[in-house]
Amino acid sequence: MSELDTLEKTLMAEIASAGDEAAIEAVRVSALGKKGSISERLKTLGAMSPEERQTAGPAINGLKNRVTEALTARRAELRDVAIQARLAAERLDVTLPVRQAPAERGRIHPISQVTDEIAAIFGDLGFSIAEGPDIETDHYNFTALNFPEGHPAREMHDTFFFNPKGDGLPPRLLRTHTSPVQIRTMEAQKPPIRIVIPGKTYRQDSDATHSPMFHQLEGLVIDRTANVANMKWVLSEFCKAFFEVPNVNMRFRPSFFPFTGPGLEVDIQCDRSRPGEVRFGEGSDWMEILGCGMVHPNVLRFGGLDPDEYQGFAWGMGIDRIAMLKYGMPDLRAFFDADVRWLSHYGFRPLDLPTLFGGLSS
Ligand code: DAH
Repeated sequence: MSELDTLEKTLMAEIASAGDEAAIEAVRVSALGKKGSISERLKTLGAMSPEERQTAGPAINGLKNRVTEALTARRAELRDVAIQARLAAERLDVTLPVRQAPAERGRIHPISQVTDEIAAIFGDLGFSIAEGPDIETDHYNFTALNFPEGHPAREMHDTFFFNPKGDGLPPRLLRTHTSPVQIRTMEAQKPPIRIVIPGKTYRQDSDATHSPMFHQLEGLVIDRTANVANMKWVLSEFCKAFFEVPNVNMRFRPSFFPFTGPGLEVDIQCDRSRPGEVRFGEGSDWMEILGCGMVHPNVLRFGGLDPDEYQGFAWGMGIDRIAMLKYGMPDLRAFFDADVRWLSHYGFRPLDLPTLFGGLSS
């Protein structure tokens, strides 16, 4: 075996056993570097006779080419192995669910959701939102709504009264309904008025379907021609949109409220034949959902409007109650227990805002 063959064997063995890029580089320098074994042999060509060069030249250059090729091939092989090792070590399971951001983990309380749904529906019908204080005066809560002094309704409401302030006025109270905001709105803006008033209300009442603090939605429309037919249309459009059904049958029964004339109570048709479930728009049962009526002339007068010029209609309903009906929540008290397990079950995703075009509850 010639001396060049031996060198080639040694170099090829070194290349084959090089375990990483640094080792490969060391072999390259030892063979092809300035003082490398092959470089040194190439330098000897200059001193050779032309005949000698004719055989030694191709032999040494051939060796150089084969070693260069082997180095390149081994380097690629090592790079491949390194990449495979890295891919295995830095493996990422992209099928894992994305961790939810805190804002997405939170839940919107059903009362807030239903209030937003109601606002979306009435907003679409051209209504605005109005609000008033939870702590009211006797005047706004009763007198201006046509409850005469000593009227039994003032007791019937089981009102929470504050201690008298000593200013000679009747004691302040927690409003028993959202109706006082009717008067506040009439005082603040001229007709036409189309508003809905969501808010907290208070009565001394507590069981599975009553809480001492609850929520109402009041509606008020005032202009020169507002009438019972308009009211029926608005309320039936609301019920269809809210319960997300194409049709609801409604029943208007005469009733009495001091601030209306006439006053009516509204029942909606439903099916209660399946246990634990109420369906609207079908069935042979009726369920009361709200009180309404034409605004009493005295109430218009208390609001600063002339009843010969203006007329209006109004209604009031329990937000908690319609939320329970729509979303099948059996016990009202759980609404106010602040139990996160209940909220994560019945609550709504914070980024899914209810709109009529996007779907109220989807
Ligand atoms: N304020 C009444 C209540 O709390 C509900 C109500 C009935 C409101 C008739 C109205 C109405 O505006 O016209 O029970």
